[in-house]
Amino acid sequence: MRKEKSPFLEIVNLSKFFGETKALKKVNLQVKKGEWVSVMGPSGSGKTTLLSLIGGLIRPTEGKVKIDRTDLNSLNNNEIAHFRREKIGLIFQQHHLVPYLTATENVMLAQFLHSLPDQAEAEEALKRVGLGHRLHHLPSQLSGGEQQRVGIARALINSPALLLADEPTGNLDRENAKIVLEIIKRLHLEDMFTIILVTHDPWVAQWGERIIRLEDGRIIGDKVVKERSSPKRRTS
Ligand SMILES: Nc1ncnc2c1ncn2[C@@H]1O[C@H](COP(=O)(O)OP(=O)(O)OP(=O)(O)O)[C@@H](O)[C@H]1O
Ligand SMILES: [Mg+2]
Repeated sequence: MRKEKSPFLEIVNLSKFFGETKALKKVNLQVKKGEWVSVMGPSGSGKTTLLSLIGGLIRPTEGKVKIDRTDLNSLNNNEIAHFRREKIGLIFQQHHLVPYLTATENVMLAQFLHSLPDQAEAEEALKRVGLGHRLHHLPSQLSGGEQQRVGIARALINSPALLLADEPTGNLDRENAKIVLEIIKRLHLEDMFTIILVTHDPWVAQWGERIIRLEDGRIIGDKVVKERSSPKRRTS
């Protein structure tokens, strides 16, 4: 085994153009394993574009994204989809839950797409986000904050190494945003996955350890705001 200390996420000269629109311009970024990075910036600054490129949901115009030493450019579309299922959890502002499946079934669907559904494990994941009493509710029977917590359980059910979250609390009031962020923080402390969390809200951003600012497709700020947390293994 090689012992070199390469960053967990490495972004080199990454650009994405949509026709005339230069959404991202030669971005360089390195993120360590287990780091929690918040990405801030005004509307249209390229935050979602950056996250979508990291998640392999879109392809760059130029440059590269390397995750855990895998260059996404070297993977075909099937391989990228497979890589994403193995390594990446996604949370969006809109939770994208399947409306006719219960909370448990929504989490089990992610297990099915990854490997094998396991109801007990899905229920355990929902209990970890405080939804033990909502296992068999449909999304329409859950509050916005509860729906987002199902989204977290679903994103983390396959133990991804990387969590990508785009405005995960964008639709929530402060109280529910705090509940959701506290859950992410606790799970991060337990499992030490790497987090890239996009938000336009400075209060949300300061939950991370490092804040990156995007403006007009470029990184204009990169600041460590708190010490890195050290892992705290689950006892149960
Ligand atoms: N699929 C697309 N086709 C064309 N233009 C796009 C596409 N996606 C993004 N853009 C453009 O790229 C720029 C960056 O968009 P992006 O969605 O990354 O911004 P953002 O920082 O996430 O903004 P917001 O805070 O409003 O979500 C914008 O000018 C946007 O209009
Ligand atoms: Mg966006």
